[in-house]
Amino acid sequence: MQIHVDLGPRSYPIYIGSGIASGFPSYYQDKYKGRKCAVVTNATVAALYQPYIDTLKNDLGCVVHTLPDGEKYKTVETWSGILDTLISSRLDRTSVVVALGGGVVGDMAGFAAACFMRGVDYVQIPTTLLSMVDSSVGGKTAVDHPLGKNLVGAFHQPSSVWVDTKFLDTLPRREFVAGYAEMFKCAFIGGREMFSFIMDNKEAVLRSEPAVLLDCIERCIRIKAGIVMQDEREGGVRALLNFGHTFGHALEQFYGFEGLLHGEAVLWGIVCAVELGKWGGGTLPREHWAEFDRILDGLPLPPLPSAPDFDRVYAAMFADKKAELGKLRFILPCAPGESAVKGGVEENAVREIFEKNVAWLLPRYYI
Ligand SMILES: NC(=O)c1ccc[n+]([C@@H]2O[C@H](COP(=O)([O-])OP(=O)(O)OC[C@H]3O[C@@H](n4cnc5c(N)ncnc54)[C@H](O)[C@@H]3O)[C@@H](O)[C@H]2O)c1
Repeated sequence: MQIHVDLGPRSYPIYIGSGIASGFPSYYQDKYKGRKCAVVTNATVAALYQPYIDTLKNDLGCVVHTLPDGEKYKTVETWSGILDTLISSRLDRTSVVVALGGGVVGDMAGFAAACFMRGVDYVQIPTTLLSMVDSSVGGKTAVDHPLGKNLVGAFHQPSSVWVDTKFLDTLPRREFVAGYAEMFKCAFIGGREMFSFIMDNKEAVLRSEPAVLLDCIERCIRIKAGIVMQDEREGGVRALLNFGHTFGHALEQFYGFEGLLHGEAVLWGIVCAVELGKWGGGTLPREHWAEFDRILDGLPLPPLPSAPDFDRVYAAMFADKKAELGKLRFILPCAPGESAVKGGVEENAVREIFEKNVAWLLPRYYI
């Protein structure tokens, strides 16, 4: 199946299916005939998918740059190593960068493609659930800075995206759970139909039943692509994609980006955002609470590494890119499938919701 992201001159196709990545080399030979190619991957993916990388090498004659694995390597220094390879391999303005890996590889390879020769084409072949439904689509590329995540980057849309769910066969369970966060998030921003789909199918999604998972992945990508088409550079509606992320990013920062994966933090953030929507006659009318509770009850909330301290988590919320001009913004639910940006939320509301819902010792679920 194919989704078209319509962004005028920056439009691109997203191909989705099981086993489709095997078709990429012939697509490349057709579309990019004669153009040099660099594949960027990481050590874990390279070890698991060496035969596929060998095929890319043989069929495309590409150079392969292998990154060390982990968010802690998502730095200017590691990124600069990709540029070293592109330059020393004599790639040029017509060359193509192929990102084969999760969100870390995709963000770094994309940012290298954005900067090399002032911008060359790049292709995303995401290999984690999170990168399939979220980071490979939309053109945000970045590296981290010691003072914060993704602080150095650029908008640079890929020229095609290949979502091959076969890669998920080797994905560790914990990484799956992190990916579910960005999928479940779509229930709260992607319209009534997506809300109902998640409510009715969440157990099958959590069991990763292939047909339901593929359906859910496609729906999430459509929702993300639709939002990106309306607001490519996050001037408005794209902010909705940050549902659950104000709390989530603050938790990640509190734990020093260790011990809690991004998606795991977002799962806790989703619970807090829904509860904040209910707080004090807030944004979510009572008539919808039961349906929202049905979704929350299915979330695979992970245990936290230690007891979180609200004051420090709250301070971290202000350091996040989501805070603007010193004011906190939350994306809060208003109806099934619909959310809105809400400013001016009082500290006591945030504190009460956090202290009631972010339980250190009693995760509701861990699978
Ligand atoms: N650009 C965006 O719009 C956007 C959106 C969301 C997140 N992000 C970024 O994405 C990153 C997180 O992405 P992620 O969750 O994919 O993490 P990741 O890239 O670190 O991958 C998670 C782990 O899974 C391993 N892995 C990858 N594919 C595998 C496979 N098929 N089988 C087995 N193991 C595999 C990786 O080596 C890694 O150890 C963060 O840096 C975040 O900032 C970017």
